[in-house]
Amino acid sequence: MCSGVKANSSSTFVYLHGVEMFPESTVKRGRRIISNHHSPGSSVQATGGVYIHVPFCHSKCFYCDFYSLAGREDVIELFIECLEREVRRVAAGSISWSVDTLYIGGGTPSLLPPAGVERLMHALDDVVGLGAVTEITLEANPGEAPAERLRDYRRLGVNRLSLGIQSFDPAVLDFLGRVHGPKDSQRTFAAARQAGFDNISVDLIFNVPGQSLEQWQADLERVLELQPEHISAYSLTVEAGTGLAEAVDAGEVIMPAEETDYRMFTATRELLTTGGYSAYEASNFARDGRVCRHNLHYWRIEPYLGLGPAAHGFDGSSRYWNVRDLDEYLRRDAARESPRSGSENLTVEQLANERLAFGLRLAEGVSVTNGLGFGSSGAFRRHFAAQLQRWCGKVELSGTQLRATPAGVLFLDSLAADFMLPADQQAVNR
Ligand SMILES: C[S@@+](CC[C@H](N)C(=O)[O-])C[C@H]1O[C@@H](n2cnc3c(N)ncnc32)[C@H](O)[C@@H]1O
Ligand code: SF4
Repeated sequence: MCSGVKANSSSTFVYLHGVEMFPESTVKRGRRIISNHHSPGSSVQATGGVYIHVPFCHSKCFYCDFYSLAGREDVIELFIECLEREVRRVAAGSISWSVDTLYIGGGTPSLLPPAGVERLMHALDDVVGLGAVTEITLEANPGEAPAERLRDYRRLGVNRLSLGIQSFDPAVLDFLGRVHGPKDSQRTFAAARQAGFDNISVDLIFNVPGQSLEQWQADLERVLELQPEHISAYSLTVEAGTGLAEAVDAGEVIMPAEETDYRMFTATRELLTTGGYSAYEASNFARDGRVCRHNLHYWRIEPYLGLGPAAHGFDGSSRYWNVRDLDEYLRRDAARESPRSGSENLTVEQLANERLAFGLRLAEGVSVTNGLGFGSSGAFRRHFAAQLQRWCGKVELSGTQLRATPAGVLFLDSLAADFMLPADQQAVNR
């Protein structure tokens, strides 16, 4: 018998990332640089990714708290050199999994000269082996990725482009402080197709102050006309320390009501699934199976190497993070110090809680085999059974796979919060 549950948040913005890298112009264009050798230990087991964080942007969007700086393009060449040294000094020996995805994110990676990307890929291939990599993504901003540069990236083996369109509506783009317009998005998308990208992802944002449901639906219809292979649709989140947070605190900006957020979130799922896309993650949609394999590593709590300032990495049991500040990152390189500034071993409870929080957002759900690592622990089993009862109808357990139901996806934050083992029970768990 199910008990009633009160809804709260549909919060759809969970975007993990964190790293960087960069170039120099000594390398020939158009040469693929991936060798045939695989990562150490080819009989291996786990697969994982590599993330490179590029901390440069032409201008800083006032809602964004990803680490990036405007006006520092002068150090891009130096940055690439440092990143290459980070690969050769730090990455060597720190990977025990087979690398099958590379993600170059930011910031604005399309500001990187192709020769720099090539240099980094060479270093990675030398050190960790890119022979088993099937997906290489690079993030680009509309209007900031010229056609020739896109062709060069493609020739280097970058096979997936993530384009930050955000909206086709000039008023929404203006509110967000984006420097591109709708025509830039159309042009960069077309140039990417012409450059040979047959796997393009488009980022969109909804829940923007002043944006109506109709405006959002018009954005979705425009993106459906483009037929990208993948769409990420994020609800605008007020991140602490951003200009948006200051404006909200000062009463200068009023965020839409939660009800508006729900309605836009629901409309997104309806329109995109009707349009042939699978909602394989709460905010991510793919057609023809073109899911983002790299992000799936994050969501399935699989390992990844993080490189560059503000980058995070995970080796399967502990997380580490690099210094955030670009100048400190460069200083450490010059002093031959590691960019890593901290690490944390994750407990069974923390790993289980992360698996639950991310897994419930996935259409595939999360495997609760072996009690998510708790085995036959009484406390966990009692807690889990109570939450299954409490959230009846919002989650389903099929064999050992726990999933949010279509009715449950509006409650993902609450579901995750409730299923995670409370701190006061963790100590007595075993
Ligand atoms: C950090 S950006 C990097 C890629 C590129 N520079 C761009 O802007 O598209 C990746 C995505 O995060 C989104 N994003 C950043 N801050 C956000 C926020 N506060 N709420 C929702 N989406 C956000 C961006 O709009 C973008 O789609
Ligand atoms: S949203 Fe993208 S372009 Fe804007 S500041 Fe963040 S990383 Fe840079």
